[in-house]
Amino acid sequence: MATLELGILVSGSGTNLQAILDAIADRSLDARVRLVISNRAGVQAIERATRAGAPASVVSHKSFPDRPSFDRALVDALRAAGVQWVVLAGFMRVLTPTFLDAFPMRVINVHPALLPAFPGVDAQAQALAYGVRVAGCTVHFVDSGTDTGPIIAQAAVGVRDDDTRDALAARILVQEHKLLTTVLRWISEDRVHLVPSGDGARARVRIDGESGALFAEQVP
Ligand code: GAR
Repeated sequence: MATLELGILVSGSGTNLQAILDAIADRSLDARVRLVISNRAGVQAIERATRAGAPASVVSHKSFPDRPSFDRALVDALRAAGVQWVVLAGFMRVLTPTFLDAFPMRVINVHPALLPAFPGVDAQAQALAYGVRVAGCTVHFVDSGTDTGPIIAQAAVGVRDDDTRDALAARILVQEHKLLTTVLRWISEDRVHLVPSGDGARARVRIDGESGALFAEQVP
């Protein structure tokens, strides 16, 4: 088992990044953060990386004429840093094949909903507005769709009658931190496998010795 060489893409507060940095620091995750890239300047995620001594830079999507040229700049920076696996940790841009082909099935994302329900922006508000009773989060491989790639693991979070969007998001976030670091540990242990299917069906994920389901909270 080799140390995971991680690149982490962020856009905001970076609490998922922090969970990874903490798991590495307390040795529950055998990984190195080779590079953190934010597409937005001045975000807390960059401060978190710097505080932990992880290399960090800002690559603004606004400096590029189109998505593929932005993605090419990201790929070049990540490759130069020796990155092998890429984590989207609150990264709010859709990646094109220019990026995904450079790291085939080596890009994972954490999303604050039980996919395939509520892809895209503000999934927690979507879940609350719909009236679901069980919300949660998903860690999945990234493909060229929006939150459509093969699901690795999910954690369930009960919705309360008096929930607000922010209260629900905060409880989901706690589970995101656990789920993301757990999946990275499974990957570092080489236990996560993509199982291709014949006849055009979706590829699925198998995890050696795990179901990939986390029942985080007792539904009230
Ligand atoms: C997290 O809830 C993450 O799941 C979500 O943004 C938040 C980032 O928090 N990502 C998406 O919605 C992507 N579709 P963080 O910056 O504190 O990790």
